[in-house]
Amino acid sequence: MKRLVLFMLLVGGASLLGLKPTYAAQGSIPIPAQYWSFESPLGKFDRSALQRGLQIYIEICASCHSLRHVRYQDLEFIGYSREDIQRIARDYEVQDGPDDEGQMYQRPALPQDFFVEPFANAQAARAANGGAYPPDLSLITLSRRNALNYTAALLQGYRDAPPGVRLTEGKYYNIYFPGKQIGMPPPLLDDIIDYEDGTLASVDQMALDITTFLAWAAEPKAEKRKTIGLQVVIFLFFLLLLVLASKKRIWKNI
Ligand code: HEC
Repeated sequence: MKRLVLFMLLVGGASLLGLKPTYAAQGSIPIPAQYWSFESPLGKFDRSALQRGLQIYIEICASCHSLRHVRYQDLEFIGYSREDIQRIARDYEVQDGPDDEGQMYQRPALPQDFFVEPFANAQAARAANGGAYPPDLSLITLSRRNALNYTAALLQGYRDAPPGVRLTEGKYYNIYFPGKQIGMPPPLLDDIIDYEDGTLASVDQMALDITTFLAWAAEPKAEKRKTIGLQVVIFLFFLLLLVLASKKRIWKNI
């Protein structure tokens, strides 16, 4: 009986302290933790990383993945001028209409349009990818716990399948993907792109840059929100000082 009580006290104490037993899924590989500067309460996005990430998205990921919640004009935040944005958008076509004859027509994309999707619909996307669906990437970094570290790790997680593992046709071996067989061919290879700013395009570097870009894409206004939050806190602090000072003054003679 004594032992039982002691045991329960121990378990209770441990859970109070937040010490939970962890059960790693069998065979799952821990996801390496990265440092994300923009994650801290006042953290900012590194503009160069965002621009490199955009370059990766446009040159690589956009052939399979949509980014449907971001507009071309949002790119102003990451340092592009109105002209740059018009130039980027012009490379894509969107359907518009109907015109005066009731016909739909194609026109070059404009800054106010959302990023153009690579496939007309989900069926076409699956058909082009051996049945696997490339998810929209605009909210992918909010889609699961530890999503930033997971996304960066996934992009660096391709390996040769170990002996004895039979890969399903059209699948690739990736140590971080649940089940380890993913329908996405390795999108990043060393030097697969020429960074406009001359940064060395290693797989690790690109994985961090594209993940940073996707984190921004998921919440383009996050930085502004943080700045406003800070201003509000500062304002409230001075308001408090003012209230305290006037209280003293008012009650001074009583
Ligand atoms: C050739 C097409 C193709 C390209 C290019 C591509 N992907 Fe994918 N991606 C896929 C497919 C298909 C899936 C779904 C895989 C599955 O469910 O097995 C996927 C899944 C994903 C997932 C979700 C993984 C999960 O856990 O569900 C992420 C994140 C992702 N891709 C990121 C990227 C990024 C970032 C790039 C660009 C660097 C990229 N992809 C380029 C086809 C592609």
